[in-house]
Amino acid sequence: MVKHIIEIPSRALAEFELQQLIMIPGYKTKDMTSDSTDTSAPLTKFSSNEKPKIKLNFAALSSAMQSVTGPKMAISMAQEGGLGVIFCSQPIDAQAKMVKNVKSHRAGFVIPDTVFPETAISDVIKLSEDRGHSTFPVVDNNGILLGYITKNDFDRKRHSNLLVKDRMLPLDKISVAYDDEINDNLMTAYEKLIESHHGSLPIITREKKLKYAVFKKDIDHHIDKPLAVLDAEKRYVVGAAINTSDYKQRVKALIEAGADILFIDTSQGHTDYVKDTLQFIKKEFSNVPIVGGNIVTREGFDFLAENGADAVKVGMGPGSICITQEQIGVGRGQGTSILEVAKARDDYYKKTGIYIPVIADGGIRVAKDITVAWALGADVVMAGKYFAGCDETPTKLRTMARIVEGKTIEVREKPYWGEGSDKAKDWMIAGRYGQQDFPEGVEAWVPYAGTLKNHLTQAKAMIKDGMRKAGCSSIKDLHENAVVQILSAGSIKEGGVHDVTVEKTEKSLNP
Ligand code: IMP
Repeated sequence: MVKHIIEIPSRALAEFELQQLIMIPGYKTKDMTSDSTDTSAPLTKFSSNEKPKIKLNFAALSSAMQSVTGPKMAISMAQEGGLGVIFCSQPIDAQAKMVKNVKSHRAGFVIPDTVFPETAISDVIKLSEDRGHSTFPVVDNNGILLGYITKNDFDRKRHSNLLVKDRMLPLDKISVAYDDEINDNLMTAYEKLIESHHGSLPIITREKKLKYAVFKKDIDHHIDKPLAVLDAEKRYVVGAAINTSDYKQRVKALIEAGADILFIDTSQGHTDYVKDTLQFIKKEFSNVPIVGGNIVTREGFDFLAENGADAVKVGMGPGSICITQEQIGVGRGQGTSILEVAKARDDYYKKTGIYIPVIADGGIRVAKDITVAWALGADVVMAGKYFAGCDETPTKLRTMARIVEGKTIEVREKPYWGEGSDKAKDWMIAGRYGQQDFPEGVEAWVPYAGTLKNHLTQAKAMIKDGMRKAGCSSIKDLHENAVVQILSAGSIKEGGVHDVTVEKTEKSLNP
């Protein structure tokens, strides 16, 4: 007979057909404003008389997946107050290069999208629409700056069949700054930018190689809202995933490249392999925080805590592209997992005085799932699908005609695939599904979500409003005071749009 049957059903983070977790309103005071609502959380363990090594200002991570987190996503996540975790399902040197790329950036300095002199103006128009900005440095094949092209340099109708070189402003007509006079100092760059009377300024080497650009709107953002998660040298903080097979070589390379925190990327983290990996890192590289996982039980938490994990990652099966539960019959509803592990974290804190943050990994469909995950006890969330539609992923956008309720609608979408899918299988050895030869994930598409900045600006507004209406002003406050209820099927229907016919547009199809 089975050892034990748990009779209470396992709860999903958000089951949209059967039950839905929702926060009950709490008392909201006048001083609870958007600015005073605090979405920060520790990412690494600390005891009562010390600070965590890494604290996030927006407690979210982008998943360590090929289709989600490369350097661009990691930089943007850190700029938004979160953190990106570079995937390990790739050769060690390729992953280390990505980490190095992130660490070569300093807050406010942007690696801009560039175009070539031979690029068609029609492509610049398209790029501008896709990326949401309209200033492009023009470079040659070696990255040497040749000039600038902005939307003010051409007429969309008259010039769309010309090339960039026909309309660009050449180098001698634009203002530039040299990297050795800026010295990565944002205020120096700002002064130069103001003196140039332009909205942006390219920064080049003495050999004219483009390094960065600074944009007035970005600098204002950094000066006014210092949400970015930075290290002591004002570089963006970045995470890197590792596996339990080649970790001895990988960890060294990643740390040399500048990784600030490592994440053991396994679907089942309560194993001898994870124990060996944790113990190796704690012994050889004791300064670098290491996240253990994934686990979904109290026993899993205690095991990772005892073996030195600086944070634990929770989730087995809730991922949008995940077929683990169907394939092997092991896993747990994410709501139940968060509740049980958060309780274990609190008990461990009471017993030892050491707080080990809990990261809820997978199952975030929409902004409010983040708030609910925090309310259930997560300190930080990790999401793949929620970020996979953004410009900053390593994947390409496509435009497709889809038939929705008999109507043809043009939708823009981006590919999103699991680390355990056939598409990622070449890298299974180094990935989270090292030991097996069947898929645990699928290949899929997600709606285009624009820039991460715009995506998260809206998400943050909704999350903060939800926190305030639940009567809470911080994640800790949510942990202590949020009241969460499971809705009946009828309540879910009532809480959504009902009894009307909704006009379908690309926007209304997006979550
Ligand atoms: P999502 O945010 O719901 O899309 O879930 C993302 C999470 O799913 C990741 O952070 C991983 O923990 C997990 N994951 C990634 N690839 C796979 C897979 O192929 N199968 C199962 N889970 C996966």
